[in-house]
Formats: sequence, C-alpha cells, structure tokens
Amino acid sequence: AMDTGVAQNPIKNWTAYKQELSNRMGISGKQVMSIRNKARQNPKRVVFAEGNDFKILKAVQYVTREKIAHPILLGNEEKIRMLIKENQLELGNVEIIDIFRTVTEDKRHKLAKTLYEKRKRKGMTYDEALENTYNRDYFGALMVETGEADAFISGFSRKYADTIRPALQVIGVKEDCNHIAGMYMMITKQGPIFLADTTVNMNPSSQTLVDTTLLTAREVKRFNIEPKIALLSYSNFGAFKGLGSPVRVKEAVQILHEKHPDLMVDGEMQANYALNGKLRYKRYPFNKLGDHDANTLIFPNLSSGNITYKVLQSIGTAEAIGPILMGMKKPIHILQRDSSVREIINMVAIAVVDAQSVPEE
Ligand code: ACO
Repeated sequence: AMDTGVAQNPIKNWTAYKQELSNRMGISGKQVMSIRNKARQNPKRVVFAEGNDFKILKAVQYVTREKIAHPILLGNEEKIRMLIKENQLELGNVEIIDIFRTVTEDKRHKLAKTLYEKRKRKGMTYDEALENTYNRDYFGALMVETGEADAFISGFSRKYADTIRPALQVIGVKEDCNHIAGMYMMITKQGPIFLADTTVNMNPSSQTLVDTTLLTAREVKRFNIEPKIALLSYSNFGAFKGLGSPVRVKEAVQILHEKHPDLMVDGEMQANYALNGKLRYKRYPFNKLGDHDANTLIFPNLSSGNITYKVLQSIGTAEAIGPILMGMKKPIHILQRDSSVREIINMVAIAVVDAQSVPEE
C-alpha cells in the first residue's frame, strides 16, 4: 500500500523494489536521495525507542540493508525477535537492548550518574535519575549523550512533549542558540518549501521567532538551498496596528535586519505575498526578498505552523519530511505519530547526516 512505503516481505528483488520506491517518491526523489547518499558515506549508530513496532522494524530493515545506519533497538527482545521471524525481516543480527532486562547494574548506574549530574540542581534526586533509566526516552537520549550511540529516533508511539522533555534535559540546546524548534520540508510541485516552527514553541516571543528563523536558515542551507525567508502573519508590513502576533513578527524581522543583514528575510507578510514574489514586488517593492518566491516560511505560532503542515500533508499536495528537530546539541528526532515507513527512513537518514557533523569529544 502507498502508505507503508515498503513492499511485502520478504523482498525478493531488491533492485526492482528500490526502483519502485524511487518512482513513488517522484519529484521528491532528488532531495531525498541526496540525504540518503550522504548518510551512506558514513553510517552512524542510531537508537530506536520503539523497537517493537512493525513499521519501525521495516524502516530498520531498509536502513540496515542500504547501509544508512547501524540500528540499535530498544524494546522487548522476545517480542522483537518474534516480529522479525513472523514477517521474515532480514534483521537476524540486529542489536536489541531490553531496558528492563538486559541492562547491567553498572551500565544503569553510569547512565543514572550522567542524568543526575545534569539535573541535580534542577530538583532531580539520584533515585529519580535511576528510575528514569527505565524510561526509553531517557535511556535513548542518555546513550547518545554518553557516546554509546550517535543519534536517537523516538516519539512514534507517545506524546511529542513527553519525548522532547527528556531530550532537552539530557542533550540540551546547542551553545549558539537559545531554542530548539521543529521544521518540515514539504516537497511541492514548485520545489521544496521549508516550514517552521511546526512542533515546539507554542507562543513564541519575537526573540524565539528570531532563533527559529536562524536555525531554519542554517538547516535549509544544509540542503544546498538558499533560504528565502518570509515571516508570516495575517498582516503585511505593519498594516495591523493592534497588539498581537503581527507585532511580535514585525519585531523579529527588525532584529533579523539589524543583526543579520545578509539573510534574505522579510515580513510580516501574508502567505500569498510570501509565495508569490511578483505580486509582492508589485505591492511592496522595498521588500528584502525582491520578486523571489519565498521557500522558507516562519509561522507566528505553533498552531499555525502545525496546522499548515498537517493540512498540506493531508490533502496530498506535498510530501513531507520531518519533523526535523533543530538546535539540539546532538541528533534526536521525534517522529510524528503515524509516520509512514518512508518518513521514518528519511528521518533516520537526516539523523545520520546530523550525527556526521557532531564534533568528536
Ligand atoms: N528550546 C530550548 N529549551 C527549551 C524549550 C525550547 N523551545 N522549551 C523548554 N526548554 C527547556 C526549559 O528551559 C527547561 O530547561 P531546564 O529544565 O533545564 O530549566 C526544559 O527545557 C524543560 O522545560 P519544561 O518547563 O519542563 O518544559 P516546557 O513546559 O517548557 O515544555 C515543551 C517544553 C514540551 C517542548 C513544550 O514547549 C511543548 O509541549 N510544546 C508543544 C509540543 C507539541 O505538542 N507539539 C505539537 C505536536 S508535534 C507533531 O505534530 C509532530
């Protein structure tokens, strides 16, 4: 079926199967393939929080076979082995860690100590830290933090916020940015469009919008695409005089223009003026994007960002890659519930490429 992105197992003809996948990806193929190829050049150890989920296992089979990543599965070993066997998945040698059964006391204390050191002045006791090592979101993040793995993929089966908190506590935010934020790459007929923040900051201040914009610009450049950024609102260039989100967006643009004059960014503006450069240039010739269509849209709050990407994804006008979590010190990515196998594979590739640029300690 279209949704799963992976044919029935066992896969008899791998080349034909890959071709089929690539055909299905259509216009998105180029970007997606370049990320996957980059991952393949230096595959990394990726921990999966939901090792006993069938879709995760299918994605893991693909990334193993394609040498995109070295997977480590968290979950009940017996159950995982049974799923592998029943579905004839080629995962006989996959590494599995059952956080309730196969973790040694030494290892558990080592992880608990790391967590405790980070949180002892934030009210966490050592006993709580130890207890938290039985939570797979803490366990996975701690594996990455302690260098036992390079990236962590989670979130498939539980609330986004519950997964992101342990990651924030254990891994934390990169030194040069104050916030994390989530981005989606939507592949449309006009090419890729990047949307942020789609997953994290509910009511961003103007400074949070600035941080989100800078993180997003950096991420877009990583795809070898020049970001042309519009900060969106329901108002254009100061037209709305009341209090509210247009004002915060306007302030964010002022800060960006002052501190980052090289960035092609403007706003506040409505989405049609963002995406139709000619129209924008006609009405607002002073705008810093000139007559270019924006390819990067920064939303005034989480409601608008999250709803927009889900609408685009659901009406089928765009293929979505994400949510790409930006600003974490080390690669942690949190899948949206009900991600397809293909989306999971793409997130793994992105996590591996992220891990390739994490400096060695
Ligand atoms: N960037 C960096 N650090 C942050 C951020 C952020 N955006 N938000 C919180 N933190 C830090 C806090 O400063 C705090 O640090 P400290 O404990 O070391 O002092 C730590 O993270 C935990 O903070 P909390 O106060 O426990 O967390 P908070 O209540 O602020 O929640 C969260 C953070 C979970 C990200 C919250 O903003 C949230 O729920 N966002 C919405 C998530 C969501 O539901 N997304 C939509 C669905 S996702 C999807 O569709 C795929």
